[in-house]
Amino acid sequence: FPVSVVLPAGGTGERTGLQTPKQFCSFLGRPLISYTVQTFERLSWIQSIVVVVAKEHMDLMTDIIQRFQHRKVRVVPGGSTRHRSIWNGVLALGGEAEGEAAAGDRPKVVIIHDAVRPFVEEDFLYKITMAAKEQGAAGAIRPLVSTVIATTAEGYLDHSLERAKYRASEMPQGFTYDVIYQAYQRCTESDFEFGTECLHLALQYCGTNAKLIQGPPTLWKVTYKRDLAAAESIIKDALS
Ligand code: C5P
Repeated sequence: FPVSVVLPAGGTGERTGLQTPKQFCSFLGRPLISYTVQTFERLSWIQSIVVVVAKEHMDLMTDIIQRFQHRKVRVVPGGSTRHRSIWNGVLALGGEAEGEAAAGDRPKVVIIHDAVRPFVEEDFLYKITMAAKEQGAAGAIRPLVSTVIATTAEGYLDHSLERAKYRASEMPQGFTYDVIYQAYQRCTESDFEFGTECLHLALQYCGTNAKLIQGPPTLWKVTYKRDLAAAESIIKDALS
């Protein structure tokens, strides 16, 4: 069955404090996003990849695709929030993005994965894909490292959560095309603006309760400046 990927990379990377968003930072002569794309492109069971980037990075991403000879990839412009970017990617897969010719062959399953998590492994992607096909939605989780507390507006402790009951929601996530399409079509402006969790939209708007699968630590997201050095050393190890 056809499987396609949406890689949201439309962020501006404020938390690294760098001029260049982290997905475009270069590691051993290749931008981070190119490693992520390569991970998916190598898999014969992945049909196509849509990379969603901010409008000002469209040319940069197009250059990267040519320079590193990525073949299964299309670039589409992102939106002002992560959800808007992902929705643009989903529409492009269905041949509905602005200026796109109708694609005709919608994928059965759509994997959504952050461009800044290049180290995802094939067997885990496969697990997510199969669970998404069966359940309609599936997502990676990890145990929490820190205890989560709510604070008052004045900066005092309000309450703390029982850590054992909670999980961090990570990427990748997978959906049948129908579920992710309907979830975004039915959700509100406020969901697009403030919502953070696609799995939640699938439950709320399609009644699809995701299968949650514990992922390996390699799902880690390059977020802060210090993560760039760690990413480089993982890439070096993988290449040696
Ligand atoms: O900000 P955060 O690290 O949660 O972003 C996760 C992913 O969402 C990143 O890959 C980022 O580029 C993407 N994103 C996007 N469009 C936005 C904001 C974030 O594609 N408007």
